[in-house]
Amino acid sequence: MGGKPKVFVSRIIPDVGLSLIREACAAEVWPSPLPPPADVLAAKLADVEGLVSLLTDKLDDAVLAKAPRLKVISNFAVGFNNIDINACTRRGIAVGNTPGVLTDATADMAFCLLISAARRVVEGHRYTIDGKWKTWEPLGHLGQDLVGRTLGIVGMGRIGYALARRCHGGWDMKVLYHDVYKNAQAEADFGARQVDLPTLLAESDFISLHADLNDTTRGMIGAAQFKMMKRTAVLINSARGPLVNQKALATALKDGTIFAAGLDVTDPEPPSMNDPLLRLANVVIAPHIASATVQTRNQMAEICARNLIAGVTGQPLPAWVNPEMVPRK
Ligand code: GLV
Repeated sequence: MGGKPKVFVSRIIPDVGLSLIREACAAEVWPSPLPPPADVLAAKLADVEGLVSLLTDKLDDAVLAKAPRLKVISNFAVGFNNIDINACTRRGIAVGNTPGVLTDATADMAFCLLISAARRVVEGHRYTIDGKWKTWEPLGHLGQDLVGRTLGIVGMGRIGYALARRCHGGWDMKVLYHDVYKNAQAEADFGARQVDLPTLLAESDFISLHADLNDTTRGMIGAAQFKMMKRTAVLINSARGPLVNQKALATALKDGTIFAAGLDVTDPEPPSMNDPLLRLANVVIAPHIASATVQTRNQMAEICARNLIAGVTGQPLPAWVNPEMVPRK
């Protein structure tokens, strides 16, 4: 008996994390760039004490029931909507995530999408490479100004705050926010005003989503909400695709209910190649890359490894989603 605890790592993560994991654990690493199929993941879970999961690995109660020795799930992401947290807590499984280190990279991507969609950058790129650029056009390619406009943040957590700080500090934007919690820091630092969702939608020029995905927030932006927005509004989603009803978004973009959208997330991921969204000029879509910088992914890997190792050795997780759980024996 004895030996290193067995763990399964569901994708190759940066070596800073993998080497820490390999020092402390007997690790099997899934070698493919695509996720392990659900039945393979379930089979791997039969005898491991720890799991490094990605947001593409669905860990619901039925899967957890097949993991009798599992002590910890260390998600390589800040979001954890792929995991049934209540079921983990009930079963005595600790869950870790990677908050903090990806805040700036994600806020940068949200801003990148905001300015790209507002100034029609990707549409212009396509216009150029398609050979359509004939001359300088006084009335062509008109976008939206940024300075002095109103930013509406839905979910004023770390990332929402970081985007608001950029937009207020650099572009002198007014900041509205909608959240179940008051963010006294945002109110003190840039006069952010907490409002209900309809007020935010009606008054904002740029609406950026930073909410968790859960049963309350799923589909929170649909046809009725698009109708409340300005026709010049730009919607940014760098959080989770299902916060938005994607069919309603395509309709709103097509019929001019809103001006444009910038998305780092879709529903599903990747979107179907038949999704009408992909045929619209006024949307910019990135393949869920907000945290994809070298430094950020290395830092995520390190936190992820430390959460895993803490969990398999019965220590408190450095970034612990469910600290109220009672560890299983
Ligand atoms: C990415 O979407 C994350 O939650 O870290």
